Amino acid sequence: MNYRHEFHAGNFADVLKHALLVRTLLYLRRKDKAFRYIDTHSGAGLYDLSGSEAQRSGEARDGIDRLRAASLSPAAAELLAPYLDSVGAGPLYPGSPKIAQSFLRPQDKALCCELLPQAAAALRRALGRDARVKVIERDGYEGLNAFVPPPERRGLVLIDPPFERRDDYERAFDSVAAALKKWPGGTFMIWQPVKEPEIADAFCREIGGLAEGLRIDLQARAPGKGLGRTGLVVVNPPYVLEEEASVLLPELTRLLAQDGTARFWLEPFGKKTDASKVPSQ
Ligand SMILES: C[S@@+](CC[C@H](N)C(=O)[O-])C[C@H]1O[C@@H](n2cnc3c(N)ncnc32)[C@H](O)[C@@H]1O
Repeated sequence: MNYRHEFHAGNFADVLKHALLVRTLLYLRRKDKAFRYIDTHSGAGLYDLSGSEAQRSGEARDGIDRLRAASLSPAAAELLAPYLDSVGAGPLYPGSPKIAQSFLRPQDKALCCELLPQAAAALRRALGRDARVKVIERDGYEGLNAFVPPPERRGLVLIDPPFERRDDYERAFDSVAAALKKWPGGTFMIWQPVKEPEIADAFCREIGGLAEGLRIDLQARAPGKGLGRTGLVVVNPPYVLEEEASVLLPELTRLLAQDGTARFWLEPFGKKTDASKVPSQ
C-alpha cells in the first residue's frame, strides 16, 4: 500500500468531501437522539500543510487555501462556516475522523478503521483521549460489515478508499450492498476519484440499483495528469443535502476552478419507490 494522504490533504477533493460531510453531520445533530459515525478508511487524522509532502504536491493551495481566502455569498458562507471553523486557520489540516469528532455530542460515537499501523497510531494521537471515539486498526470494508447496524440505528458511514487497488470499486459496492441489507436507513457517503467518467458512472448506476441517493461531482480541471474531477455518491442523503449542495456547488466550482472546463454535477439517482419504504433518520 503506497497511498499517503499527506500529499493530498486539503486539496479540492478534500474540500468538497469534508464540506458535505459536515453538512450531513449537522443534519444528524438536529435530533437529540444519538448517532454513530463510521469511517472505513480514516487516515492519520491530522496533516501538516507546511510539511514536505504537502508543500511538494502543493495541492492544498488549490483547495483549502483558496476557500480560506475567498469571499463567499452570504448563503454559501453560512453553509461553509461550520466546516471552516472545524478545520481552523492551519497549518494543521484535520482529516475526516478529526472533523467528525468536533461535531459529536456527548451521546454520539465514532468508529474509525485504518489499515496502516503508522496512520492508525497517528490517528489515535490526533483524536486524543475521547471515550466517544474508537480507532480500530483493521480493514475498513470488513469493519463495516461487523459494525452495522449501529446500536443507535442512526448515523453516517464514510467510505474513502485510496482507489490504488483495482478491487476498491468492487469492495466498496459489496460492502455497501451488505450493509444496506442490515441497515437500509443508514447514510453512506462514498468518495470516488473520477479519472475515467465511464467507471464512475457505472459505479453510480450499480449503487442506484440498491438504493436512492445523490451524486455530487466537481471538476476543477480537464482530465490529464493527477486528479481533475472528484465525486461523492451519497446513499440515503439527508433530505436537505440536495438543496444545500445546489447552493454550495456553483460557488465551490468557481473558487476551485483550475481551468475553463470546471463544472459540477448534482444528480439524484436510484428509485424513489425503494427509498419511500426506508424510514428516514
Ligand atoms: C483517502 S485516505 C483517507 C482520508 C480520510 N478519510 C479523510 O477524509 O481525511 C485513505 C486511507 O485508507 C487507508 N486504507 C487503505 N486500504 C484500507 C482498508 N482496506 N481498510 C482501512 N483503511 C485502508 C490508507 O492507509 C489511507 O490512510
